[in-house]
Amino acid sequence: MTYKKDFLCVQDFTKDELMEIINLSLAIKKAINSGYNPPLMKGKTLGMIFQQSSTRTRVSFETAMEQLGGHAQYLGPGMIQLGGHETIGDTGKVLSQLIDIVMARVIDHQTVVDLANACTIPVINAMSDYYHPTQAIADVITMMEHLPDGKRLEDCKVVFAGDGTQVCVSLGLICTKLGMNFVHYGPKPNQITKEYQNIMKANCKESGGSCEVTDKRSSVKGADFIYTDVWYGLYENEMPKAERVKRFKDYQVNRDLMELGNIGCKFLHCLPATRGEDVTDEVADSASSLCWLQAGNRLTAMRGLLVYFTRNRKIHSDLEIEAAKDTLDTYLYEHGYDLEKVYK
Ligand code: CP
Repeated sequence: MTYKKDFLCVQDFTKDELMEIINLSLAIKKAINSGYNPPLMKGKTLGMIFQQSSTRTRVSFETAMEQLGGHAQYLGPGMIQLGGHETIGDTGKVLSQLIDIVMARVIDHQTVVDLANACTIPVINAMSDYYHPTQAIADVITMMEHLPDGKRLEDCKVVFAGDGTQVCVSLGLICTKLGMNFVHYGPKPNQITKEYQNIMKANCKESGGSCEVTDKRSSVKGADFIYTDVWYGLYENEMPKAERVKRFKDYQVNRDLMELGNIGCKFLHCLPATRGEDVTDEVADSASSLCWLQAGNRLTAMRGLLVYFTRNRKIHSDLEIEAAKDTLDTYLYEHGYDLEKVYK
């Protein structure tokens, strides 16, 4: 079995590969929740490049490394040479010599592609302007943990309401890969592109799922999960409030919209939410809201992803480790080191 080096987009992975990542994440979660922190990242270091701010992604990656016995280095804006004299390619070559795996939250998707091409170590896309694949893994895990009675993942209808963000695209790709029924209900200028719609339709042909992109409110009927994201991006792309409210107000997730879903329909949000815009307080804080557990599952997903993408690293046998220690001890002894003090 060959494993892919990088995790840039869920579309690069088969259903079986995605399910392996998800099931591995769930197995590690179960172990940790039962009191066993498996040292699966022991001795390994994760580099975390952030070109933009983050709460969930940063904290979950860093916590995951700590829990699995590894270490994470935060490489935030202005903290490394990247963007000054050093190119992303050179940064990737250098990091490959120093650490074991790297994640990058980037402004332009091409940056994380260039980083992956330059790195010999695995690269995880921690959100670009095109995709948010680690979020998509957490989303599916959350849905699997809250399936409606008697339903499998493949029986579920997921409606993403509002702006066709990178979160919406990644959700649509993973749902259609896994054979689920996906709807993007949003205004025409902000619907996911025809190109992505065609990819999702091709996924459905293979998986048996379905995909619809529409501005018709009736499309929300029968939803098992209703998901939303902020309207018109964060950061420098943000649209003025009055304009975005005018464009998206009909797509707000409020009680009326939730009532179009099936009985027991659940609410999802990648967060951060702009309360009163993309979702009302009433829905975000309701018993139907999974968005807080979903944020917790970012940690579940990160642990699985870190282990999955570092699994190909050579595991040294006990004999190899013993021989290496003997060689080093001989060198230290011959050069005047007191071995007892060295190992104290
Ligand atoms: N959902 C998400 O990626 O959150 P952060 O931007 O806080 O990481």
